[in-house]
Amino acid sequence: MNAVTFWDERFGREDYVYGTEPNNFLVRQVAVLPPGAHVLVPGDGEGRNGVWLARQGMSVTTVDSSAVGLAKSKRLADHHGVSIKAECADLATWAWPDSKFDAVVAIFLHLLPETRPVIHSAMLRALKPGGWIILQGFRPEQLGYSSGGPKGVSWLYTSAMLAADFAQADILLNEEELVTLDEGPLHRGLAATVGLVARRR
Ligand SMILES: C[S@@+](CC[C@H](N)C(=O)[O-])C[C@H]1O[C@@H](n2cnc3c(N)ncnc32)[C@H](O)[C@@H]1O
Repeated sequence: MNAVTFWDERFGREDYVYGTEPNNFLVRQVAVLPPGAHVLVPGDGEGRNGVWLARQGMSVTTVDSSAVGLAKSKRLADHHGVSIKAECADLATWAWPDSKFDAVVAIFLHLLPETRPVIHSAMLRALKPGGWIILQGFRPEQLGYSSGGPKGVSWLYTSAMLAADFAQADILLNEEELVTLDEGPLHRGLAATVGLVARRR
C-alpha cells in the first residue's frame, strides 16, 4: 500500500483520528508567532492544527497528499467559519516557495531519511528571514509505547537529527520529552516526542 492510500484509508472514517483540537506542543509554542502570521502547515491531515491557527486569525496554507484528509479539514474549517488554502500534493515534489511564510508548523509529519533532510531544508527556505519553524515528532523510544506514531525506527526523529537538519537556523528549543497525548483515538497515552522551535536567519 502506498502512503497516499494508507492515509486516505486511515482518514476514511467519520470521526477525526487525531481529534479536532490543536496539538499541545503547538499551543505551548504558538506565542512566538506574530499576529496574523502567514503559516504553512505541511502534512496537516484532517486539519486540526491549520484550522485552529486560522481561528487565531492567521492566514493558513496547508499541503497534504491525502485528499480524504483535506476534505475533512475543509469540513472542520467550515464548522468554525474559517477558511484555509489547501493543496493536495506530495511534499517531496511540491514546488516549495522561497521566503514566503512567517512560519511553518509541522506536527507529526514523519518522513523517511531519503526525503526528510530535503523537505526540512525546503521548510526553512520557504520562510521569510526571521520566520519560525514549530515541529513535533516521535522519537525512537516511542516504539515502546502504544500511543501512536510510525512503527519503524527509520521514520522517527531525534533532537540530534533535527539539530543537523536545521543547522542553518537559530534553534531556540530542541527538546526530547515524555508527554501524555490526548489527541483523538490514535494519539492517546504516554509518548516519547521531540519538539523544535527554530528561526530562519
Ligand atoms: C500523522 S499524520 C499528522 C496529521 C496532522 N499533522 C496532525 O498532527 O493531526 C501525517 C500527515 O502527513 C501527510 N504526509 C505524510 N507524508 C507526506 C508527503 N510526502 N506529502 C504530503 N503529505 C504527507 C499525511 O497524508 C498525513 O495527513
